[in-house]
Amino acid sequence: MTDGRYEPLDETVGLLRGGVPIDVRAVAELLVPLGSLLPRVATAIRDGGGIESAEFQAALGMTSERVNGPMYRAFLLDEWIAGHPELAEALAHGIDVAEVGPGSGTALRILARAFPASRFVGYDVDVATVREAVAAAADEGLANLRFEAVDGGAMPRAAFDLVCMFDAFHHVSDPSAVLDGMRAALRPGGSLLLAESAVSGDPTTDAADPTSPIIYGCDLLYCYQESKLAGRTGTGATWPGRGLERMLADHGFSETGRVASQAGYVVIRATPLRN
Ligand SMILES: C[S@@+](CC[C@H](N)C(=O)[O-])C[C@H]1O[C@@H](n2cnc3c(N)ncnc32)[C@H](O)[C@@H]1O
Repeated sequence: MTDGRYEPLDETVGLLRGGVPIDVRAVAELLVPLGSLLPRVATAIRDGGGIESAEFQAALGMTSERVNGPMYRAFLLDEWIAGHPELAEALAHGIDVAEVGPGSGTALRILARAFPASRFVGYDVDVATVREAVAAAADEGLANLRFEAVDGGAMPRAAFDLVCMFDAFHHVSDPSAVLDGMRAALRPGGSLLLAESAVSGDPTTDAADPTSPIIYGCDLLYCYQESKLAGRTGTGATWPGRGLERMLADHGFSETGRVASQAGYVVIRATPLRN
């Protein structure tokens, strides 16, 4: 403290300035609407009914996506795509790509700009979010990118060479149906690219990771509640480390590549064993 005012430590000032893979300012902004949902979350935990995507999107607006924006800008092209060189090559040549749960579409705008020969479409269940995504893509004049309000389980069949899902699979209430939908949406030779948090899902192990309190806290208030609709088991942000590999195998996918991202995510490429 100097002159009655707080002075940030050198180690923290970079975080507060933003532009780093975890934007602490965006996380702090997200806590405000998440906190206002506490009574609603308490009801959802008591009745086991979860909370619909639209209710979350109405409360959170684009705050949740501002948390991931810096990560996509830092790592999507140079690490997640570059770590799968055959994908980078196909994207440069020109392929059809879908993203499920793109939110306002930050990741797709980066891809559409970087790979003008490829065609991109984002499918999100939330109509208001899709409107935001359409407007943001138009602002950037990206003619190779469009969005539709469609559930990941109901995409066009055999229409894509690559289907992506970034930080969203653990939000869906029917992961089996979405995985089957993504598989059916792939053309022969096509693949999935899934990014999920790298936490193990074992609280004792994850306690050593300083980002775990953020992930576990947001999971309880948001991700898990969105995935846990009435009659569903629910997954949430800490589930992929315990269940994703088995679910991919059970749905006829074989893992063909993996990037352990510096952003604390695992980026898995998976290919259908038969189509
Ligand atoms: C946490 S946001 C992630 C957005 C974006 N991928 C990002 O990282 O910024 C999860 C998104 O998944 C969408 N979503 C949830 N269930 C879905 C489903 N079954 N099909 C398509 N989108 C879904 C939500 O509406 C929301 O926009």
